[in-house]
Amino acid sequence: MYRTHTCGELNATHVGQVVTLAGWVHRRRDHGGVVFFDLRDRSGLVQITINPDLNAESLERVSAIRMEWVLQIEGVVQKRPAGMENPRMKTGEVEVIAKNVQVLNSSKALPFMINGETDLPDENTRLKYRYLDLRRERMTNNLILRHNVIRFMRDYLDRQGFLEVETPILFKATPEGARDYIVPSRVYPGQFYALPQSPQQLKQLLMVAGLDRYYQIARCFRDEDQRGDRQPEFTQLDLEMSYVHRDDVLAMVEGLYTAMIPAVAPDKQLLATPWPKLSYREALERFGTDKPDMRFGMELVDVSEIFARSEFKVFKSALESGGAIKCLLAPNSADMSRKEVDALTELAKSQGAKGLATLSFTDDGVKGTAAKFLSQQEVEAVKSRAGVRAGDLILFAADERSIVNKVLGNLRLVFRDKLNLADPNLLAFIWVVDFPMFAWNAEEERWDTEHHPFTMPQLADLDKFDTDPGAILSDAYDMVCNGYETASGSIRIHRRDIQHKIFELLGHKEADIQMKFGHMLEAFEYGAPPHGGMAPGIDRLVMLLADEPNIREVIAFPKNQNARDVMADAPSQVEQKQLQELGIRLSGTP
Ligand code: AMO
Ligand code: AMP
Repeated sequence: MYRTHTCGELNATHVGQVVTLAGWVHRRRDHGGVVFFDLRDRSGLVQITINPDLNAESLERVSAIRMEWVLQIEGVVQKRPAGMENPRMKTGEVEVIAKNVQVLNSSKALPFMINGETDLPDENTRLKYRYLDLRRERMTNNLILRHNVIRFMRDYLDRQGFLEVETPILFKATPEGARDYIVPSRVYPGQFYALPQSPQQLKQLLMVAGLDRYYQIARCFRDEDQRGDRQPEFTQLDLEMSYVHRDDVLAMVEGLYTAMIPAVAPDKQLLATPWPKLSYREALERFGTDKPDMRFGMELVDVSEIFARSEFKVFKSALESGGAIKCLLAPNSADMSRKEVDALTELAKSQGAKGLATLSFTDDGVKGTAAKFLSQQEVEAVKSRAGVRAGDLILFAADERSIVNKVLGNLRLVFRDKLNLADPNLLAFIWVVDFPMFAWNAEEERWDTEHHPFTMPQLADLDKFDTDPGAILSDAYDMVCNGYETASGSIRIHRRDIQHKIFELLGHKEADIQMKFGHMLEAFEYGAPPHGGMAPGIDRLVMLLADEPNIREVIAFPKNQNARDVMADAPSQVEQKQLQELGIRLSGTP
């Protein structure tokens, strides 16, 4: 038997017992003849004490032992001497007096220290030695949290009558707005599978199949630009329900999350239950984004009206060309340096603004880049509209409404971080609803769907199809938390005629529609039930629950920021023979 107990489980109730433990040397300390090891396994640490009277054979081994060697220790659990307890350790009341020490394996000198949170190397080094990185308590805890989240989801949905069904990874392109990963077929040279960007089509087909309530912990594959909250492969809690309206789906998922969070992350508080619902329009107007961080205020204030007859040419010309003027109040920031304001202006410009005008309400009067251009009356009107107090800073953006919202929405987040406005223990879940169905793609001069092409337009808007597609709202919804989109979903189209019309409006030719989506259209002809669903992103949720800055920290083996697996060094070349079998000849770099 390798072990009788795990390291982390030992406590005062084990005193006097002979135990056998197996684990890694987390730390080693030598104290005048006595050697202490912290022995670690997944469950935690326990102190092993090696006294000089240990048998000679074991003593000899001990002298060679270094960090991360794998040991088997037989010993007696003993209460630590008075004053030597370590309240910071779960097992800090006890120690194990070694009777026998076996070395199960040695370790090379580590590429980086893994027994603390300091001195971590760059991320690529951590990823190259991910199996070492994951030994760190913080990383192990993230994986445990992830496990608990998924287990809770499974149990909860099982109780709600959902069936877990696996769907294929080798499938056909399922558009979610990213590029596909494709897999060449050997059996059909020149033909390809696509890895699903989500199981969207398959879960709808499961509804046609009568499964009624489906879920899956589903891996999704998307070839898109990497960011902190994006990976080429990631995991969704994918779910779908038949005979539901929007609010049935929202209530199901909200119920799951509000039950789950206290169970898996008891330190976190929900901002509000039931979760607030915001329309897409309202979210943009008030917070400048469709994924607002609701943990703090600082809402955008529309001041267009105040400047309707302004002499300030920047404001005047924005209004004349149909734009808007909005401002943001940064509390107690009137003393921001010129340099800081310049940096904010640069940030605004990088997002399409032409500039950033400011007013600072200092003890020496009203200053800022806009001060000399605005009348006394205008300043007073802004003051009362925005609720300015002495010491505050006002930032104005004047432009097309969409640019104004984007710029101020982003500045709002800059001030959130600078002024610590958001409580890290708060989870501000909201629903964003009533999205536009289509967005105009100016580059390719065609309509794209905001969500995906299987989303049901709102019935009241169906007559706008031929006249004003941009005004059609859809029955899509997002779950948003602390500024992240943590889920999205929609009521789906279950009628062939509507689905066909959408594909047409998106610019697909008939032959194309048949080739790509013929199977869906056909399925809808065999009594497809009304249905809808959602897909919460599990990585983003666990990231928020674990207070991690990006989703790589909560994925066992993520790709790096350049979509590489630096541990296995993938992607990598394949043998010529494999390419030949697939009928593929490389043309060199594209
Ligand atoms: P969507 O594409 O919005 O919807 O994805 C749903 C949720 O998945 C997460 N997510 C990601 N997480 C990590 N890395 C990525 N690259 C990534 N992309 C998306 C987000 C997002 O909210 N089939 C639809 C859902 C539906 O309609 O039911 C879909 O996939 O949290
Ligand atoms: P200008 O008259 O161009 O020198 O601009 C005067 C002030 O207004 C400067 O501080 C600019 O940064 C700012 N500004 C210029 N364009 C805009 C805009 N579109 N929105 C807000 N402020 C602007």
